[in-house]
Amino acid sequence: MLIVANWKAYVEDAKRARRLAALARRLSGKTRHEIALAPSFAHLALLIPKKKSRVKLAAQDVSATTGGAPTGEVSAQILFYLDVSYAIVGHSERRAAGETDAVIAEKARHALAHGITPLLCVGEKERDPGAEYLSIVRTQITAVMKSLSQKERMAVIIAYEPVWAIGKTAAEALPAHELREMVLYIRKVLGDFLPGKAPVKIRILYGGSVEPDNVRDLAAGSGVDGFLVGHASVEPDTFSGLIKALS
Ligand code: PGA
Repeated sequence: MLIVANWKAYVEDAKRARRLAALARRLSGKTRHEIALAPSFAHLALLIPKKKSRVKLAAQDVSATTGGAPTGEVSAQILFYLDVSYAIVGHSERRAAGETDAVIAEKARHALAHGITPLLCVGEKERDPGAEYLSIVRTQITAVMKSLSQKERMAVIIAYEPVWAIGKTAAEALPAHELREMVLYIRKVLGDFLPGKAPVKIRILYGGSVEPDNVRDLAAGSGVDGFLVGHASVEPDTFSGLIKALS
């Protein structure tokens, strides 16, 4: 499985970032799962993985442009030079700041063009009885997949993150059986863009209040390939507990 620690802006002190990265390296020696750290842009350069490190780096976002003048942007090429492996695109906290599906598709394209794997976040704000949330997720996936080549599509990782479950507690997260349904649904949507059994090969992560208490349940039989973990990834005991629960 792939466990991505999304530190958001929780980790502001570089010393704390280094300590958490050292913990991740220790944990990675004791688990078969892959750990990727998503610190703030400002801390990426401090955490460049050593050649043989099993801990990878992820960016929390990436620019929709490459090079040139756009002040304040961090391009996929910059990330590539920092040995970043993944970039989160379309996180709900960026969507809430006004990011559109069209911009997210551009970000995914730029990431792929520079050897960075996009972690495409999709997810509804609420669960409505009429199941409108399914078409919301379909629209978010379609907006990105339609602009990519077959080969590029195969490289995308989907992170299903229902917005209503983010930043809560394990008790309020998505129940495991509902995650299973969603994973099946997402693979069905991917079938619109990929031939035959190819959708099964796309990695799907879940995010939204993944904690040591629910991670094992969520992993068992749901069909997910990993987790995008926010608040539980920035407290050493909690993150260790979560990795241990999976191992
Ligand atoms: P959470 O955040 O684990 O704190 O719910 C997950 C995310 O937003 O990626």
